[in-house]
Amino acid sequence: MDWGLKNRLARIIKPHDKRGVMLAVDHGYFLGPTERLEEPRKTIAPLLPHADSLMLTRGVLRTSVDARYPVPVVLRVSGGSSIIGKDLSNEKITTSVKDAIKLNVSALAMSIFVGAPHEHESLVSLGNLVNEGEEYGIPVLAVTAVGKELEKRDARYLGLACRIAAEFGAHLVKTYYCENFEKVVKACPVPVIIAGGPKLATELDALKLTFDAIQAGASGVDMGRNIWQSDNPVPMIKAVKAIVHQNATVKEAHEMFNMLKGAKKTVKPVIRSNQKS
Ligand code: 5RP
Repeated sequence: MDWGLKNRLARIIKPHDKRGVMLAVDHGYFLGPTERLEEPRKTIAPLLPHADSLMLTRGVLRTSVDARYPVPVVLRVSGGSSIIGKDLSNEKITTSVKDAIKLNVSALAMSIFVGAPHEHESLVSLGNLVNEGEEYGIPVLAVTAVGKELEKRDARYLGLACRIAAEFGAHLVKTYYCENFEKVVKACPVPVIIAGGPKLATELDALKLTFDAIQAGASGVDMGRNIWQSDNPVPMIKAVKAIVHQNATVKEAHEMFNMLKGAKKTVKPVIRSNQKS
């Protein structure tokens, strides 16, 4: 593997344990102002120190992230459809590799829509993006999007989509957790990370999902809503990170979450000497 490509990938999937915690905040590219991501800067800033990498669009990167902050960026470069449009699978590459280089990104990300009306275009786009990315040593994350057709979320479908992404040259694949997830991972020759999907009922559910995915061989998470839609996003990302990088159990991670959440609430206000008690 080319040195630059290997170096960039190592910023995302940490070489010491071959795992990574990617914070996903790209939702606005088709969902608009998603709940609790209405003001991206406010959502992202407190979470940045805890994320191994940040996945987002160039618009949010430029407007809402301090350029001096050294977080590796995974830039979403595909789009073209919205949640209220006719067909979510009708995406194209919308951001040039030249712009991605100017933004100093560590990886490019795009969605593929296997089995959807625009399957062909999305797969050809993936092949082309890999060709172009590799010219500059930039890896590509393929997102196996399922859009509105969530019923397809089983090991057969996701295994097929992940494998096709890897065959087209994706260096990393993002998919959803499902039963028999180990089959999806086994049949995919590049690292697989999981999205969290819509916010689950409790943080415990999201920690279980993370744990089960890691146990089944996932290389980490690219998680959004289950972190920043939590009432306690920083304790949540720390708990997810403990599972990914420290092999914490669900119980340990949940205890950590509760402890950090409690600590946040019991922090005493600072009373300055010129303030009356
Ligand atoms: C949408 C995406 C999102 O980044 C992905 O779904 C991860 O976020 P979440 O954990 O909220 O599902 O790529 O296509």
